[in-house]
Amino acid sequence: VPSVRKLSAQLSVSVSTVLQAYRILEDRGRIEARPQSGYYVRPPLAPAAAVPRVSRPSSVPTKVTVGSLIMEMLKLSTQPGVAPLGGAIPPDQCLPTKQLNRIQAAIARRTSRGSNFYDLPPGCKELRVQVARRYIDAGCALSPDELITTCGCTEALNLCLRAVARPGDVIALESPAYYGHLQIIEALGMRALEIPTCPQDGVSLDALRFALDDKPVRACLFVTNFQNPTGAVMPDETKRELVELLAARDVPLIEDDIYGDLGFDLRGRPKVCKAYDAGGNVLLCGSFSKTLAPGARVGWCAPPPRWRDALEELKVTTTMATPSLPQLAIAEFLASGGYDHHLRKVRRYYAQQVQLVSAAVQRAFPEGTRVTRPAGGHVLWVEMPPRVDALDLHARALERKINIAPGPIFSAKGKFRNFIRLNCALRYDEMIERALITLGRLAGDA
Ligand SMILES: Cc1ncc(COP(=O)(O)O)c(C=O)c1O
Repeated sequence: VPSVRKLSAQLSVSVSTVLQAYRILEDRGRIEARPQSGYYVRPPLAPAAAVPRVSRPSSVPTKVTVGSLIMEMLKLSTQPGVAPLGGAIPPDQCLPTKQLNRIQAAIARRTSRGSNFYDLPPGCKELRVQVARRYIDAGCALSPDELITTCGCTEALNLCLRAVARPGDVIALESPAYYGHLQIIEALGMRALEIPTCPQDGVSLDALRFALDDKPVRACLFVTNFQNPTGAVMPDETKRELVELLAARDVPLIEDDIYGDLGFDLRGRPKVCKAYDAGGNVLLCGSFSKTLAPGARVGWCAPPPRWRDALEELKVTTTMATPSLPQLAIAEFLASGGYDHHLRKVRRYYAQQVQLVSAAVQRAFPEGTRVTRPAGGHVLWVEMPPRVDALDLHARALERKINIAPGPIFSAKGKFRNFIRLNCALRYDEMIERALITLGRLAGDA
């Protein structure tokens, strides 16, 4: 397309007007900016493959038995020389590590003791102010005093589950579920009840209603925005209905919003269920692990008042405090406006990456393969023809130094045998393309 200056002269409009127009086209995926070169029209997208169907899990609560398989996949996800299509890990270029390090160093110089102490619950006030402020965009008027900072989202989820349920209790989950949720449920001796889930709209409320009538569900644990692995976003109206349904039955909802800031639509972020929680029944959890710093281990939860004391006590007996310096640094990064700028870049980048990997899967995988169309995050959930065994594919791919997340780790009892999850976050280059072609060939040979 014409350069910004040329078009501004041609149409007699200002440079900033042209830039704004180009940004809108960029956000819609019509053109792309290439550094030091200009703007280019993007090639038309291939017709999208069919999306996986609504899942049909077992209707019986089960003990989780996929822990060891998950550990194997996780250990392989960071091995050098292995194409990392397994773990949902943000790549280095999507993390503002240098800026955060600089801020940390400056804070440490400024306030030696002030950044090195037991930051007992509820944790860093500056950070809670920033997190609460961000939830306004998610339709949620949270006070900083309602938040407790945690060591990542994993700790927040552990604490919430322990606050609302006991070993042996039944926890309703999506199907497929994020494997970390399954691991936590397994470690806490609870039982998982998987609920039929649509890869676009999330948990089926009809199915959930039936499960609540039929089984002693103690709590629900759902990822309501850009679910891992499907990318599903529960529509606002469904979120409101879900909150009302659970409130009427006094079943708490633990809402994992870790991907909420990673939507591809740059106009805004989706709401959280917590926005509809008039009665105090939703325990909202999140972290900066997918957006800023998985190594900082900084997350949070916002429990309703009835669980707050229990949660603070559990936090103290689990990790005592959240590391003080990373919290202060992230708070300062957010306060400076750096977070929004950073998010804009990575959301656009992930949108492109997901599209590139999806197109490659459609070219390389056997006929009948279905692929999700996530509106955020950076993973794809791929359903292959039933003859393909994902565990076998995982083993054969590893021999060729490719790591994938096999479908069975996303289910308490090892279902989804012909599914895989692909991490699209790494820059799409020849290595990734070759890995996808190899995967497609291996799947085709099955
Ligand atoms: C849905 C979901 N929740 C929680 C986590 C873990 O978050 P954290 O690293 O902050 O503990 C992940 C990581 O992949 C995730 O996908």
